[in-house]
This record gives sequence, C-alpha cells and structure tokens, in this order.
Amino acid sequence: MEITSAKFVVSNSRADMCPDGNLPEYAFIGRSNVGKSSLINMLTNHSKLAMTSSTPGKTLLINHFLINNSWYLVDLPGYGYAQRGKKVMENIKNLIQHYVLERIQMTCLFVLVDSRLEPQKIDLQFIEWLGENSVPFALVFTKSDKQSAGKTKQNVERFLDTLKEQWEELPPYFITSSEKKTGRQELLDYIESVNRT
Ligand code: GTP
Ligand code: MG
Repeated sequence: MEITSAKFVVSNSRADMCPDGNLPEYAFIGRSNVGKSSLINMLTNHSKLAMTSSTPGKTLLINHFLINNSWYLVDLPGYGYAQRGKKVMENIKNLIQHYVLERIQMTCLFVLVDSRLEPQKIDLQFIEWLGENSVPFALVFTKSDKQSAGKTKQNVERFLDTLKEQWEELPPYFITSSEKKTGRQELLDYIESVNRT
C-alpha cells in the first residue's frame, strides 16, 4: 500500500470528542519521546505533519490524521513522563485509557518501544494492562538506526523473551527507524492487511 494523501484533521483533549463516523483508526502509543510522532511523519512522507521534539512530552492531545481519505493514523500522548506534574500526568493517563478502551474505531494499537533499551517496566506494565483488557496490539521497536543491527536484534529478542514468560502468543512486531525509513513498507502492508479483514 502507498499513502497518497495525508492531512491533519483535529486535536482533542477527550476521547469522546474524536471524529464521528466509522473510518478505521491505527493509533500509536508508547513512552514519551519513543518516536510516535516521528513514525507518523515517516509513514506519510511528511517531515512536519505530526509535531516532534527532542524534549519528551511534546504530544499532549489525541491527533487524527486522515490518510487516503479512508482511514486515520492517530498520534497519542506518551506515557511515563513525570516532568509536567501530577495533574497533567493524570489527564494524559485518563485520555489514553478512554481512547484505548472505548474508541471502537481503533482497529490496531501500535505500542512503540525504544529498541536501544532493555525491557522497561513501564512498557511491560502497559502491555500487561492491554492484556487484562483484551486490547489487540502490535509492537514497534523504534530508533533502530541508533545502534548496530546486532544490538537491536538482541534487545528485541530480550523484550520478546520477557513477554513469552506471560503470553502464550506473541504480538506481531516491527523494527523501525524514522530516520532511515526502516520498516515503512512492512508497517503499511500490515495496516493494509488489517484494513481488509
Ligand atoms: P511525545 O510526543 O513527547 O510523547 O514523543 P514522541 O513519542 O512523539 O517522540 P517524537 O516523535 O517527538 O521523537 C522524539 C525524539 O526522538 C525526536 O528528537 C526525534 O527526532 C527522535 N527520533 C524519533 N524517531 C527516531 C528514529 O527512528 N531515529 C532517530 N535517530 N531519532 C528518532
Ligand atoms: Mg509525539
């Protein structure tokens, strides 16, 4: 699949104010700064469609981007960024929970994990929460350009091994670099395959 058009539609502070209609949505979640907004720009071939920053906590709202006039990519705020204070953290947590649990248009949730790091408790806890709530998801290991392919593979395997301790079946997973456009076609093809079913 190729993306022929991508446009920003709306930012929302509440999941129940997201666009009406039944177009399927593919949403990106993960720790602050893991590369969610950058991945949306990489997939759509736009350098500034979603706002990115080297400082964590850039995306604070739910952002809908209409793709090929037929489905949405959704940029969510990151979890786990304490710097903005308790109240903001609480708001973000609520917003994520409502979107993930109640948004019936959400067709797949991509959970982004930093490929440079060993398994992080906060990611494992979030994935456990998805499991408890029967939310289907796929994993995306980001920033693979930042280290050797061998190191990425090692970290990915460690993460999957940790999941295997609790899960009978592993989710689909992708290795990406927004910098080098690694994994772009695989992700788009996956979205297309889910869109058809
Ligand atoms: P929040 O909105 O704060 O939750 O962050 P985010 O997950 O949307 O991250 P964002 O896309 O803003 O990227 C954070 C930083 O990481 C930026 O400085 C990006 O340029 C950088 N970055 C993101 N993806 C990659 C990547 O694949 N490779 C490299 N080298 N840098 C990346
Ligand atoms: Mg962001």
